[in-house]
Amino acid sequence: MVRATELAHVLVRQTVQTGDWTVDATTGQGHDTALLAHLTGPSGLVFGFDIQSAALAATASRIQQHHHVTLLHAGHELMAELLPPDAKGRLTAIMFNLGYLPGSDKQIVTRTASTVAALACACDWIAAGGLITLGIYPGHPGGADETAAVIAFAAGLPATFAATHHTRLNSVGTAPALVSIRRLR
Ligand SMILES: C[S@@+](CC[C@H](N)C(=O)[O-])C[C@H]1O[C@@H](n2cnc3c(N)ncnc32)[C@H](O)[C@@H]1O
Repeated sequence: MVRATELAHVLVRQTVQTGDWTVDATTGQGHDTALLAHLTGPSGLVFGFDIQSAALAATASRIQQHHHVTLLHAGHELMAELLPPDAKGRLTAIMFNLGYLPGSDKQIVTRTASTVAALACACDWIAAGGLITLGIYPGHPGGADETAAVIAFAAGLPATFAATHHTRLNSVGTAPALVSIRRLR
């Protein structure tokens, strides 16, 4: 099975072009931020959110050659307050990778209420044709609730969006999965 994180990268590569504006809603070690920085190039913009300074430091060191990335030490639920107003309707990709940062404090995790608030905002701010990806992990405490809430939110979107859920069909258990949401118009 293709890992959720790898599939997210495939979909984002098909979507983001040079000069685009994008968001990494959970920078962690900066893998997604680095992909977005590479795809958008110096004429584009990338905004990265994380609540952990260690995550932002790791991300900053991974993208040090890119000067079009703005890292924000804040929760993604503050996206609407912290992004420039002209980013609304202009963002072509918003990536979430939920759960905890591997190798760090497992108590610091994304939480259902703030994740759903940020996802609602992401749906409001994404450009027509743009893509939201969410790597979801039911295996840690609180992860199953968050996973269910993300899937329910995506399933309830109107037909102006196309939402998909890529998951394992057998022995599903705590396997990671991917939700992707494309704004059609
Ligand atoms: C699974 S990790 C992200 C991994 C990352 N995409 C990478 O490539 O390494 C989840 C991250 O979400 C961050 N996080 C938790 N709550 C958050 C929130 N409300 N807003 C933004 N980031 C949050 C954690 O600090 C952690 O670094």
